[in-house]
Amino acid sequence: MEGDVERYRKPTRILHWFHTGAFITLFLTGLILYVPPLAIIAQDSWTRIIHRIAAVIFIIGPLLYLVFNYKAALKGITEAFHWGQEDLGWLLAAPRYYFLNDEEAMPPQGHMNTGQKMWWLMVIVFSAVFVVTGIVMAFLKTVAPAVILQWSVVLHDIAFIATGAMFFVHVYLSVIHPLMRPLRTGAWSSMARGKVSVEYARSHHAKWYQEIASGQDEPGK
Ligand code: HEM
Repeated sequence: MEGDVERYRKPTRILHWFHTGAFITLFLTGLILYVPPLAIIAQDSWTRIIHRIAAVIFIIGPLLYLVFNYKAALKGITEAFHWGQEDLGWLLAAPRYYFLNDEEAMPPQGHMNTGQKMWWLMVIVFSAVFVVTGIVMAFLKTVAPAVILQWSVVLHDIAFIATGAMFFVHVYLSVIHPLMRPLRTGAWSSMARGKVSVEYARSHHAKWYQEIASGQDEPGK
């Protein structure tokens, strides 16, 4: 198997970038609502309206993906919740790997390495938190008990801070960190054109590469 390896299929990539657009809009309009000195920008509540429209897009994207690609979606969700011994290996090797660029330190990784799985798991769990608490704040304000309303605000804020911080880590580790290069055939390429070079797949996801090269797993997700 020479040349390129398929890593993400078109529907997955469309969902990723569609969701990214909604996420960034929600993040920026959420920041304006959350940080008091920015409140001046929120005059006339237009940021609140955009926040709600982006929230609908944020929910609809994954739902459509789930309906039309349920097999791939279930496989992907299973991947996020599948943790084992090799994840401990990643945790121990991560400081040398990411801070000293020591590729030898990292044990062979599957389709997603442990760090990617952590982000993916966070996206699933916190998206559910955003949706449930957002619905309470948007539609049940007048009927929900005060304690539920207060907890919704707190949990929505925690999800906002956690995913906001991890979003920057995700962007750094996906496209800026030197080990994820070259852009044309490395991590960026996997979400941009769906493919990475065989060399990249072998060095960054050796376990996954072995599985697809031996036919145990399909390449694109
Ligand atoms: C401009 C912003 C973003 C950039 C540049 C970016 C880039 C990427 C890239 C290059 C990958 C493929 C990594 C690989 O498999 O080798 C990826 C994967 C992924 N992205 Fe993003 N992404 C962005 C925003 C987001 C947002 C907002 C979310 C979620 C709300 C997200 C969720 C994911 C998930 C779950 C994966 C699969 C797991 C992983 O590789 O971490 N991304 N992203």
